[in-house]
Amino acid sequence: MAFARVAGVGSYLPANRVLNDDLVSLGVDTNDEWIVARTGIKARHLAETGQTSSDLAFIASERAMEMAGVSADDIDLIIVATSTPDFVFPSTACLLQSKLGNKGAVAFDVQAVCSGFIYALTIAEKFIRSGSNKRALVVGAEVFSRILDWNDRGTCVLFGDGAGAVILEAAEQPGILATALHADGSHHGILSVPGNVCGGKVIGDPFLRMDGQAVFKFAVRVLADVAKECCDLAGVAPQSVDWLIPHQANIRIIEATAKKFGVPMDRVIVTVDQHGNTSAASVPLALDAAVRDGRIQRGQKIMLEGVGGGFTWGAALLEF
Ligand code: ACO
Repeated sequence: MAFARVAGVGSYLPANRVLNDDLVSLGVDTNDEWIVARTGIKARHLAETGQTSSDLAFIASERAMEMAGVSADDIDLIIVATSTPDFVFPSTACLLQSKLGNKGAVAFDVQAVCSGFIYALTIAEKFIRSGSNKRALVVGAEVFSRILDWNDRGTCVLFGDGAGAVILEAAEQPGILATALHADGSHHGILSVPGNVCGGKVIGDPFLRMDGQAVFKFAVRVLADVAKECCDLAGVAPQSVDWLIPHQANIRIIEATAKKFGVPMDRVIVTVDQHGNTSAASVPLALDAAVRDGRIQRGQKIMLEGVGGGFTWGAALLEF
């Protein structure tokens, strides 16, 4: 059976970089000291009006394709993980496909909020290992700024916009070594956007709502557990993992997860300070940053993991 191997990575952040103090200038009742102490976030990027998830995904995808040395025609599977799609339908994956000029590939979205990229990568791996597809474009793309209540200082300071992409292709050598996915919908109430569109109106609440402390505790517990589960499945000791790339929500969640998993912080990729929480885009954005700055090298073992609304969580261990 063929393995699925990462052939290229890419990402894109909107040009508008917003510091914590800029949020204060924009009228948010907060301060840099509080945000940095509670979350580690110093800056985030926000999309321009009219700039959509598929726009961000398009640039990230072009960069990943360039690194992999492939063109849009070479791709036979496109999966976009997003909770902020351009439209109700068609899928952001189909809109991305159109922008790329690809015709005929399988294309669909995955909705697992901040675990979305791990879900999408796992699905793509299974398509490739089954032999049905040869080369996948897997993207996490978000414009969370569109679903933030800018009067809710407990949430609006946490998030940013961006996209990350990987090209995953069939290979004789690994590749993705193991994956593990989980969900427990009974926790849907602690993080949600509890609204929908009906009869031309928004029904319910169109903004992100969160019980921060409940999310914090849940995230730390499942992130450490699922990384260990993935190591067990692959027969790889946590100490042999070269780099841990957890979902970038909060530096305190990342530090607690790394400690429970048994990996020192100098082997953890951190971008939350510069990107904020970009939901499904956070893991591929961090992966791309560390590949391009030379920290991640071919042959190293990388643990990717996510947790998000649903609740959903998952991990993927790969040999880069
Ligand atoms: N600036 C200044 N003060 C603030 C802000 C802000 N942006 N937000 C809240 N406060 C105040 C509150 O009003 C409160 O004031 P009070 O004591 O006078 O009432 C005080 O700070 C403490 O508020 P808490 O909500 O109790 O703060 P907490 O210590 O729980 O920190 C936080 C909040 C950072 C959200 C924390 O709970 C957390 O990190 N949770 C994890 C949530 C997360 O990362 N979610 C991301 C999405 S989920 C995911 O990606 C998996």
